[in-house]
Amino acid sequence: MVKVITYGTFDLLHYGHIKLLERAKALGDYLIVGVTSDDFDKTRGKINNQQSLIERLSAVKSTGIADEIIVEEYEGQKVDDIRRYDIDIFTVGSDWEGRFDYLNDFCKVVYLPRTKGVSSSDIRAESRKIRMRIIGGLKTGEKVGAETAYVNGVEITDSDNTEDYDAVYIATMPEEHYAEIKKALLDGKHVLCESPVAIKRTDYNELKEIAREKSLILADAIKTAYSTAYSRLLAVAKSGIIGEIVSVDAVCTSLREGVGERGANFDGKQNSMCAWGPTAMLPVFQLLGTEYKSKSIVTKLISKEKLFDGFTKIDFIFENAAASIRIAKAAKAEGELVVTGTKGYIYVPAPWWKTDYFEVRFENQTDNKRFFYQLDGDGIRYEIVAFAKAIEGNKRSCNISEDVTSAICSVTEDFYNGKYLEI
Ligand code: CTP
Repeated sequence: MVKVITYGTFDLLHYGHIKLLERAKALGDYLIVGVTSDDFDKTRGKINNQQSLIERLSAVKSTGIADEIIVEEYEGQKVDDIRRYDIDIFTVGSDWEGRFDYLNDFCKVVYLPRTKGVSSSDIRAESRKIRMRIIGGLKTGEKVGAETAYVNGVEITDSDNTEDYDAVYIATMPEEHYAEIKKALLDGKHVLCESPVAIKRTDYNELKEIAREKSLILADAIKTAYSTAYSRLLAVAKSGIIGEIVSVDAVCTSLREGVGERGANFDGKQNSMCAWGPTAMLPVFQLLGTEYKSKSIVTKLISKEKLFDGFTKIDFIFENAAASIRIAKAAKAEGELVVTGTKGYIYVPAPWWKTDYFEVRFENQTDNKRFFYQLDGDGIRYEIVAFAKAIEGNKRSCNISEDVTSAICSVTEDFYNGKYLEI
């Protein structure tokens, strides 16, 4: 019996896939199809599959061509599979010509002609073309523009004619967010806005209601929330492996030349509270909830007039846990995240907010576990994918709940209302 194996993502199964599967089957007597998992696809740079692994698996199954279907989860699995299943022929489409020649050491490699004129990418691009306009000149806006190139189905437009775009990315100073968001929502546009979304909780609540009434997405753009490692960290922390969480401590600092000097020009520069506060508060609220019992803000202001804090420390007290954040644009500290539990802790080395790696550590070091997940583009491209999916009404909505956004706005508001202790 000649055993054949082939691999693919098979997103939005199309005619080209079916032809490939038929040709692969015709090469032998028994066909195994490896469907690539979402995580493995991400490491290969395929970030916006429209269908989940389960949906893709059942689509391949429904063709009735495969004798066996497996999931491809890691680099190097092909060699393992070829050995494990005693494969005679490995095959893929000719778009991969040459790439799998190394498998010749294990079995015969056949590149099959690729069907012209059809691909999952084309179908995805046709079914959703979200035109996004970037508002505001902050540097992050530029990054979003560049990263959008990796997300098919979303394109950047410079036109300010409301007919020409469906969504906006807001990269203005935080004080301007409210007016910009309101305008965009009233124009019927979806909004992805840098955090803090508003500097008053009531403003956010109003915007949230407008978005809900008009069935529009209003999403909080904290890129860390979209990194795979960070999402896994939340899951691991909540799994109970480190016991009960008793403390979350996050530090975010960036020291830019000139910012710390008295009399420096603060125009167009975000204070530490807005630049770093939301990111640092994210794991606190996502792990411990938003119902803290009390908090205290200690700040070192460089400019009182502009309310520019060079360093701020916030302590939160929850029913059964504590948390702290230290944020600074005019001071430097180790930018790490530690989640303390009753059985062990999670440690994320600096800069934790761009994390691709974390460790779960225990008293007995031999029990320690390390986790690594590739991160491309600081998480921004995943954020745009999540935003696009939320717009399409696909179930996977954006990763930051309204409660968390609201709590961030509320802490920011207290800071702006002077509820801090100055040092
Ligand atoms: N394939 C093919 N003809 C096409 C499209 C895909 O023969 N028109 C083959 C590929 O060569 C591969 C398999 O189908 O062996 C699975 O491909 P996959 O990457 O899932 O499909 P694409 O449509 O190429 O997806 P994308 O556009 O996302 O790259």
